[in-house]
Amino acid sequence: MRRRTFLSVSTAAAFGAEPRKQAADHQRPKYHFLPAANWMNDPNAPIFWKGKYHMFYQYNPNGAFWGTMHWGHAVSTDMIHWKHLPVALAPTPGGTDKDGVFSGCAVDNNGAPTLIYTGTKPEVQCIATSSDGLHTWKKHEGNPVIPRPPAGLAVTGFRDPCVWRENDAWYMALGSGFAGVGGAVLLYSSPDLIQWTYMHPLFTGIMDAKSTAKGPVGTGEMWECPSFFPLGDKHVLFVSTQGGTPYFIGKYKDFRFEPEVQGHLDHGAYYAPITQLDAQGRRILWGWIPERRSSQAQRTAGWSGVLSLPRVLSIRADGRLGIDPAPQSRGLRQGRQNFLNIAIPDGKPARIPGVSGDCLELRAEIDPGDADEYGIQLCCSADLIDSTPIVHNRSLNRLSGAQPHASQNGNLMLAEGETLRLTIFVDCSVIEVFANGRMCLTERAYTAKPGNTGVALYAKGGSAKLKSLQVFEMKPISADRMTT
Ligand code: FRU
Repeated sequence: MRRRTFLSVSTAAAFGAEPRKQAADHQRPKYHFLPAANWMNDPNAPIFWKGKYHMFYQYNPNGAFWGTMHWGHAVSTDMIHWKHLPVALAPTPGGTDKDGVFSGCAVDNNGAPTLIYTGTKPEVQCIATSSDGLHTWKKHEGNPVIPRPPAGLAVTGFRDPCVWRENDAWYMALGSGFAGVGGAVLLYSSPDLIQWTYMHPLFTGIMDAKSTAKGPVGTGEMWECPSFFPLGDKHVLFVSTQGGTPYFIGKYKDFRFEPEVQGHLDHGAYYAPITQLDAQGRRILWGWIPERRSSQAQRTAGWSGVLSLPRVLSIRADGRLGIDPAPQSRGLRQGRQNFLNIAIPDGKPARIPGVSGDCLELRAEIDPGDADEYGIQLCCSADLIDSTPIVHNRSLNRLSGAQPHASQNGNLMLAEGETLRLTIFVDCSVIEVFANGRMCLTERAYTAKPGNTGVALYAKGGSAKLKSLQVFEMKPISADRMTT
């Protein structure tokens, strides 16, 4: 009892100073969504409801670290400017979600907004509904609606429902997997979101048998956060596992999914993506941008985790997944600079004169010429000693940031004569890169000084050419980095 009193007083005291501290933190993004303070991870249940975009997310109100998972909530009219709303779901003491309200989705059940989520521990599936326009949520009295994994199946996990309507029934894809085999997505059906019947695995993967990682998510024996939806005349399935976000495009027939094409949604700091339809019917992808600094640094900062900008998915003419920035972010553009035909000689990086800022959108087209490696350096100090590179290596066909991984080799192969076309969003410590409409790389840049905001070009093993560059200054979504 005494400990409780102490905790609540000290939390209140800490939060008194919090907005000022957060507003002055030069690492904290200015036009990406994040909670006012504390920890966020997966985006949950994005839904366009009566003219507004609602976003929920995994949130720990007790600090900038993972634990005591709640659902944070925010609302927007354009998917860019957000207003924080009260927490939507909290663990119920003694209830089926007493140890955390884990990830899930939202559906419109004939006019009744319904959240479907995982309660823990053990992992079970639950639902909640709102009768006041998504502000407050009532958990279903009969929770959990799926109390345990299918009889006879030994699963590595059982969470993160993705639910859709098909003909006269509801279907659920659930993240799971089998030890020694691989991650899996289990398929359920229901007439009413309450009675669920297990059908079979929608699709099963193959684990990395050579992995030395700890835990089933690390080895690929467990797939988290599945998303399954139609796109064009195909179906797309993606999951989160082994720190990555693999996607599959294929055919969905007789309740089975057969992949034909596969790839990765992002090759950087990006996890637990989820999709929704926007007001124009575009398929929008959201992801969690995790930190890439120590947990101590995150606790000290008082915040951790950022929501990606909205991305639009499409099926390209070559059958692969197209990923582009959603047009909604264009509303943030202010000043614009244009550059044409700048030579990038082999050797030392050179700053682009007059280009600098911690809130930028850059659109660059680079002809690789005969360079083996070439790219853009962001967040540069005046002497260029501090910088965050975005580098294309031609022999490895790899677009990467400061710390390339071998697993990134082959992530961007340019065809003969194809130029590198980059759209880059810089927002303080967040960098989102879109390359040639088919590849994404999210990076973190924790520059030592707020003034490290220059942009430079460089080439190695030959020279390249910047054919064109547009630079837009981006307008912060709030005056004080508090989002709302
Ligand atoms: C993915 C994940 C989900 C889970 C949630 C818990 O990042 O581990 O599988 O529902 O986060 O916060």
